[in-house]
Amino acid sequence: MQLGPPNPPDRALHPLFNAMTIAAMLSEARTVERRGCFVDRRISDIGIRPMAPTPEAGEDLQDEQPAVSDRLFAGSRVFITGGMGFLGGHVAKRLVGLGAEVTVFDLDVSRARPSIVNDPAEALHSRLSLVQGDIRLAADLRAVLVDPFDYVFHFAAYSVIERSTQHPVDTIQTNALGVVNLLEVLRHAAWRAKSITFASTDKVYGEMGTSSYSEESPLRGIGVYDAAKLAGDVFARMYNEVFGLPTVVMRLCNVFGPHDHNVAFRLIPKALARIYQGDDPEPPVLYYDSLNHWRDYIYVDDAVDAFLLVASRTTCHGHVYNVAAATHAPTPQILKDLVDCAAALECSHDPKRHAAIEHNGIRVEMRIGVPGVVAIDRQHLDGSKLRALGFAPKTSFADGLTRTVAFYRSHYRAPDRAPDRSPDRTDHLGQDGSQDHEQLAKA
Ligand SMILES: NC(=O)c1ccc[n+]([C@@H]2O[C@H](COP(=O)([O-])OP(=O)(O)OC[C@H]3O[C@@H](n4cnc5c(N)ncnc54)[C@H](O)[C@@H]3O)[C@@H](O)[C@H]2O)c1
Repeated sequence: MQLGPPNPPDRALHPLFNAMTIAAMLSEARTVERRGCFVDRRISDIGIRPMAPTPEAGEDLQDEQPAVSDRLFAGSRVFITGGMGFLGGHVAKRLVGLGAEVTVFDLDVSRARPSIVNDPAEALHSRLSLVQGDIRLAADLRAVLVDPFDYVFHFAAYSVIERSTQHPVDTIQTNALGVVNLLEVLRHAAWRAKSITFASTDKVYGEMGTSSYSEESPLRGIGVYDAAKLAGDVFARMYNEVFGLPTVVMRLCNVFGPHDHNVAFRLIPKALARIYQGDDPEPPVLYYDSLNHWRDYIYVDDAVDAFLLVASRTTCHGHVYNVAAATHAPTPQILKDLVDCAAALECSHDPKRHAAIEHNGIRVEMRIGVPGVVAIDRQHLDGSKLRALGFAPKTSFADGLTRTVAFYRSHYRAPDRAPDRSPDRTDHLGQDGSQDHEQLAKA
């Protein structure tokens, strides 16, 4: 059996996973040879202890979000790029609920696509306008932005980091130049939006040099996705500074919740697909090289609150905000909580599945060759600037996880629901990007 790579000398394992723990884990593990080597092991045995509360955990959770009037968006016209996706779809749902007239612009607006917009239970599809278009093509944007909109939210992106390294040009054209296309069309429009809110990411900060990143921290994001988003982030600020557009940049940590259909790569939806997609649950996979990763997690409804808050304030124009979370945790802890949550849920529903989830635990696996992915070890956002506006996450990680697990359970297990069949939601972007380039050349 080939064991994991030596730990780089300058990157000590977190105390939860000291060398003894890992060595014991590997030597005792039930080992199965498959695609290189990996270790199949119950997570409860690998030495994870409950995580210490972070300064932000719990104390910020609020029952009420005082900052935005529900009436503000009623009757307003809202343009959401990438609104068929996870975050854009949740923003669309909230705004439709608040009485806004929502137009979703997305590369894939097909009815067959897994999306909150297409979920019959949400009854959203007939209550908004859908426009198929490509953010990389200014002509597509011009055609729809002839009409005025009060609020613009920009979520469209090549959003899967692992695939961005295979398609750097498409990633840059979408995540960097797509922002420029949108802002140029808005700059030349005969009308002016009240705000233009751009979804950036904590990945723009790159590897942490301090305990947490503030909005003033150096921007060191260097992976393909990270750098392309960073360029978009800079362009969004430049269009405020130079042309006076009312842009606001939101640097999000990891968002989780129902209806994230990027099931092939993202930690939580991927784990829940493995637990619920098949007749028998599969153990979620924890990559060996992620044992030492720490991330912030925010529940999607809280992220939506943050977007609506900054969109409602003219004083936010030209500013950058970290959308920080109530939870900062190591990746193995997140998976352990998820498995525990799913097992607990099955207790009252399906004792056989409950037993299987408990028995499976988590599979620790070697990841062989994800070339070009610049994996950041620790990410932690300082959210005090947004908190000063009155924002605080309302959903505890445990509550958010329970809602998320319940959603995926029903998504995959309810008899009338079609499971995600595509490997992930970036399929429509093309395997080698060649079609996309042809299309761009014609534009
Ligand atoms: N989900 C997270 O945890 C997270 C964290 C940090 C930042 N973000 C950012 O938030 C935004 C939304 O993320 P998400 O999780 O909803 O991703 P997602 O993949 O679910 O949604 C992205 C949407 O953009 C659409 N799209 C892709 N290329 C397009 C193009 N060329 N033209 C038009 N539409 C296109 C996709 O079809 C999809 O509906 C992205 O900009 C992402 O970088 C997300």
